[in-house]
This record gives sequence, C-alpha cells and structure tokens, in this order.
Amino acid sequence: MVIQKICCLGAGYVGGPTCSVIALKCPDIKVTVCDKSVDRINQWNSDKLPIYEPGLDDVVKQCRGRNLFFSTDIETSILEADLIFISVNTPTKTIGNGKGRAADLKYIEGAARMIADIATSNKIVVEKSTVPVKAAEIIMKILRANTKPGVEYQILSNPEFLAEGTAIVDLVESERVLIGGEETTEGQKAIQELCWVYEHWIPAKNILTTNTWSSELSKLAANAFLAQRISSINSLSAVCEATGADVSEVARAVGRDSRIGPKFLEASIGFGGSCFQKDILNLIYLSECLNLPEVAAYWQQVVSLNDYQKTRFTRKVIESLFNTVADKKIAILGFSFKKNTGDTRESPAIYVSSTLLDEGAKLHIYDPKVEYDQIFYELTHPLVTSEPEKVKKNIQIHNSAYSAVSGAHALVLCTEWDEFKSLDYKKIYDAMMKPAYIFDGRKILDHEALLNIGFHVQTIGKRL
Ligand code: NAD
Ligand code: UGA
Repeated sequence: MVIQKICCLGAGYVGGPTCSVIALKCPDIKVTVCDKSVDRINQWNSDKLPIYEPGLDDVVKQCRGRNLFFSTDIETSILEADLIFISVNTPTKTIGNGKGRAADLKYIEGAARMIADIATSNKIVVEKSTVPVKAAEIIMKILRANTKPGVEYQILSNPEFLAEGTAIVDLVESERVLIGGEETTEGQKAIQELCWVYEHWIPAKNILTTNTWSSELSKLAANAFLAQRISSINSLSAVCEATGADVSEVARAVGRDSRIGPKFLEASIGFGGSCFQKDILNLIYLSECLNLPEVAAYWQQVVSLNDYQKTRFTRKVIESLFNTVADKKIAILGFSFKKNTGDTRESPAIYVSSTLLDEGAKLHIYDPKVEYDQIFYELTHPLVTSEPEKVKKNIQIHNSAYSAVSGAHALVLCTEWDEFKSLDYKKIYDAMMKPAYIFDGRKILDHEALLNIGFHVQTIGKRL
C-alpha cells in the first residue's frame, strides 16, 4: 500500500504542527487533522491559529486547502485514510486507581473505539501520543475485538520529540524519527510504509526502527533524562547560592565534557510544560506496577527536586520582601512555561503566582503571548485555589511590561522571553517603589547593570 491519505485524531500542540509539516513535505499525500472540539478546528481554519508557534502560520498558509485540511468530520476522514495518527491528550489521572501518577488513557481508548466503529478498510494506526509501555496492546485489543470482516490493522508507535517554541524546526530537521512495530512480516511492512512518509524529507539514517515496546519506553526515557538534567543542575544551583559558586560557570565547565554535553543545563525556577512531570509520573507508576520500587524512587526525586526549586524561589521572594507581601504590588513578567509559546500548562509561574496570592499580594502580570483568559483560567482553577473570586480581584493583566511594573515593590521574572532582556531598566526602576527588587528566575538579565541602577537583585544559582 502506498499511503495517499492520512487522518490525525487530535488537533493540539502535536497533531497540528506535525501534520502541517507532513503536508508541507509530502504534497502527494492528503492530510486531514480532526478534533472533537469544533472551536479548535474553527481556529485552525481561521487567520488566528489556536497555538502560537514560530513558523507555523507560514506552513499552514502554504498547505491549508491544498493537501492539508482541518475538520470535525472524523467519520469521513477515518473512512478514507490509509494511515491514522492518534495524537490525543494523555493527561495524568485525577481520579481512581493511579490518581496523580498514571496516564489517563481514556482519550486513547476513545480514539481506538472510534476507528473500530468507523473503519471499513485496512488501516495503519499510529500511536503518536506519549503513552505508557504496552499501550499499543490496548489499542490492538480494541481494534481486533471489533474488526469488521476483511479489515486488518497494524499498530505502530511513533512518539513525537518536538519541543514547543521550536516545533517547526524540530519537525523539519528532526535528529531522529522513531518508529516501533510488531516483529511480524506485516508489522515490518507497516513500519516501512511510515518510513516512506518521513523519507520525503528526513534522511533514512535519522529514522530508527525498533519493536513497539522499545519505542514507547524510549519516549518516556527521553523526557525523563531531559528533566533529570534540569533537576540535577537546579539541585546544584542551591549549592551555588550557599557557597558562592556560580551555576552558569559550573554548567559551562561540566558541559564542556563531551560525554555530558552543554545543552539542557540551564538552571531555572523549575521545569514546566505539559509533559515532563506527567511523563515521569507515568514512568514512576509503571515502575511501581512492575514491582520496581527503587526505580520508581529514583525518578520520583526528579519531580520532588523540581517542586523544591519552585518553592525555594518563591520563598526567597517573600523573605526578601521583609517576609510579607500582603497588599504589595508585585509584577510578574512571563507566564508561559518557556519563551516562544503561549502554553501555560504546568508553568512554574502558576505556582509562584498562586503562592504570592495566598500571601495576600496584588499581582500585575504581563506575558507577550498568553491570552488574558488563560491566566485567569490557570489561577482560578479549583486545583489552585478555593477562592476564585478573591483571586480575580487581586490580579491585573497588562499588555506591556512597563505598565505591569509601575508602582510595584518587586519584579519577578518567570519566563525567559527575549524582550525582557532589552527593557529600559532605569525607567523601570524610576517607576517602582523603593527599595526596588528584581527576582530573575531565568538568569537572563544583566545583574551588574541592575545593581548599578540601584535594584536589589536575586537570581538562581548565584549570590549577588
Ligand atoms: P492537546 O491537548 O493540545 O491536544 C489533544 C487534542 O485531542 C485536543 O484538542 C482534544 O480535543 C483532542 N481529542 C481528544 N480525543 C479525541 C478524539 N477521540 N478524536 C479527536 N480528537 C480528540 O495535547 P498535545 O499537547 O497535542 O499532546 C498530545 C499528545 O502528544 C500527548 O500524549 C503528549 O504527551 C504528547 N506530546 C506533546 C508534546 C507537546 O509539546 N505538547 C510533545 C511531544 C509529545
Ligand atoms: C519537552 C522535550 O524537550 C521534547 O523533546 C518533548 O517532545 C516534549 O517535552 C514533550 O514530550 O512534550 P517542551 O516541554 O515543549 O519539550 O520544552 P522544553 O524545551 O523541553 O522545556 C521544558 C521546561 O524545562 C521549560 O519550562 C523550560 O524552561 C525548562 N528548561 C529547559 C530548563 O529549566 N532548563 C533547561 O536547560 C531546559
């Protein structure tokens, strides 16, 4: 079979960009991205896409209506597809068995049941979402228990490694594409068919093939390793602050060893994003279920250290402000979990903001890409506060950094947006209450210059 039509279930941060790049690079393939959410699909079909991602607008503009379609007509797109990506969300379970750790596979199961109900011809079903090891077995069981006569399925694992903010570059210049499948003749054939899609633009040497379970586990392992590096450097940032060492110098020296490498060693207020914590918790739960408590405890420490880092930073803000922020105006610069995205899922800024609000602060928040409603949504969420009305009264959202800092006792920088580096800090100092405090949670500002202006400055991993 030569793949002519692809359907993707889930038009989120992964499904949207991934399929847009497939459509760009494979003009001979018709790609339809579907979602249950009418709103989301309407946004994909409008001038304002539902997610901010550098370069994405251009790709969508080039392909939409040509060989890229966004649709809520899931039935037609499943019926006509040769290959179906499942790119639905796999959040941490909030209720029941494994609550707070296990991945909630209800959307994966829902997608598999949709395919089983609708399909009338052979399909290659590709697990693109991040899932626990052996999840492909669940999809397989559902599909094969409901197969119509003459319909055959192959299930592949093809996890996604893109990072938000650099998704288009990551997809166009992938260091590796990973495809896992069954070790049968049919399984190997399905792997080759998906390889053919990627080989439109990815060199064959960058496409790795494995068995299904290795592929599923490699995705969890890659995120666990990345997060572990951040927790490792963050743990050392505390040692630096206590001793006078500088974490940036330590990272530079350690990273120069080619066995360690320089990337992903930026100490910060802690990692955020929808995946690191969720995927490590998933690995922890899996290890516990496999009766491997030492393995579970090892990875648990990566998450615990991240919580410690967020708490440590926030405590420093409060203690520096004479141990009380009640009724003080505090400017929060940056609310997304990293620069170049509007995504706020698990953003450290949520923890920092909600703790300051609990202590009675009045927050003035500015982020270049996060929508007002999204900030309110995060800070009034039932898991964050039991007093949403009170919270609403104490936050004000601004459309510039300068208006957020005016009259503030402190500026707390939570996201490393480039524009924060080039603000006029003399002007900011003049507009703030004195003593004026800056807490640089991302180590991006020129601390010497700020001290010279008169600010009290604190950052991560360095005594000033
Ligand atoms: P998302 O929440 O942005 O998007 C998921 C979409 O799936 C939602 O719009 C939802 O409405 C839709 N959906 C759910 N069930 C559906 C169904 N049966 N049919 C059609 N649509 C359905 O999630 P995301 O950030 O795109 O993540 C998706 C998966 O990819 C997760 O498993 C995540 O761990 C993984 N992942 C995410 C990233 C990332 O950067 N966000 C990177 C790599 C992997
Ligand atoms: C991460 C991985 O990098 C992707 O490979 C993976 O596909 C994705 O998760 C996923 O599975 O969802 P993402 O979360 O989008 O991508 O962004 P990262 O660049 O990894 O940053 C995650 C968090 O770590 C951010 O809060 C960032 O500020 C923080 N970080 C990153 C640090 O604190 N220090 C660093 O050195 C690097």
